[in-house]
Amino acid sequence: MDKLLMIPGPTNVHQRALEAMYRPLTDHRGPEFESLYAELLENLKYFFQTKKWDVIPFTASGTGALECIVSNTIAPRDKVLVPLYGNFTNRIKEIVEVYGGEAITFKVPEREAVTAEQVESALRREKVKMVFLVFNETSTGVKVVDLKEIAKVAHEHGALIAVDAVSGLGGDDLPVEEWNIDLCASASQKCLAAPPGVSMVSVSDRAWEVINSMKARSHYFDLKLYKRFFVERRQTPFTPAVSIFYAVNEALKALKEEGLENRIRRHKICSEAFYAAIEAVGLKCYAKPKFRSNTTIAVEVPSGLREGDIRRIMRERYGVYIAGGMADLRGKIIRIGNMGIVDRQIVLRTVNSLECTLKELGWDFKIGSGVEAALNVFSKYLGI
Ligand SMILES: Cc1ncc(COP(=O)(O)O)c(C=O)c1O
Repeated sequence: MDKLLMIPGPTNVHQRALEAMYRPLTDHRGPEFESLYAELLENLKYFFQTKKWDVIPFTASGTGALECIVSNTIAPRDKVLVPLYGNFTNRIKEIVEVYGGEAITFKVPEREAVTAEQVESALRREKVKMVFLVFNETSTGVKVVDLKEIAKVAHEHGALIAVDAVSGLGGDDLPVEEWNIDLCASASQKCLAAPPGVSMVSVSDRAWEVINSMKARSHYFDLKLYKRFFVERRQTPFTPAVSIFYAVNEALKALKEEGLENRIRRHKICSEAFYAAIEAVGLKCYAKPKFRSNTTIAVEVPSGLREGDIRRIMRERYGVYIAGGMADLRGKIIRIGNMGIVDRQIVLRTVNSLECTLKELGWDFKIGSGVEAALNVFSKYLGI
């Protein structure tokens, strides 16, 4: 049985990206790698929608890119505004504190993401060096809907804006240069549909001014070092995961061929189909409608059903892997990843296996209603 990986990352990978990893390894201090690296950096600019700014990849998972941002910009006792609305916002707070920064936090109402209004009122109370938020909070399935305004508000208050877009970039619109996002982190294993192991950070001119005025506090993630190595040698300072670099570059080429706009639209349509199906079978989405994510479908587990049972039956009988809740939401929600190569066929297989599972568990609904609701969404956008 074919496995279908519908967890919110790592996700199903482009076949061509997998095949790229079979290529023989090459000397990372030689011309072949140098031209791959130069091409990769150009392709990453497309992914982040920037023409002028640097996008720097690391051999590290997404958390490495977050740590990179903090270690290059935050000195002990620097204040960072970190609005809290899920596990990954909590992680940012922890990283800021590990580096001796002071995280200024406030709690966003449950099932919502932070808004420009909330950021503005926090910034009126407290002067900070940086606002650091999560674009798509994968633990709750909410997304920030007014990021462009938040960036503007941060700059009006003299702060940098940093964004964790690990699970959102490529699945939702985030033009870093147009919206003036100073530092933006993403990773290979989500909407890019490449294997895990590489993450990246885009850096604005304003961010470089701050970074250049400071001593980096991590050697491995020293952005100045990466920039110097690229400019002088077209190489990385440390041994890169060459095979994964090949795969990521291949996934970026696939993205360019599809077109970023089309990819975002595909995620949007598939998420709408998922949400329609969830409601049609009588389940409730966790996020409030205004904040619903394009890439992470969080669904409440109703009383009478157990998260573990739903996941187990979907996995064992239908080969479909979904995730449970994290921390406080463990046992209370299931999460479906809507990322990467997701399409009509994948959505319908997932919805179908969810329906069969719910039936087996005794949930009272009309079998086929989820598939029908999803199909209606696809016909609305794509025709039959
Ligand atoms: C929003 C967000 N930030 C950060 C991370 C951490 O990424 P990684 O597990 O690749 O370190 C994740 C992973 O799911 C995420 O979804």
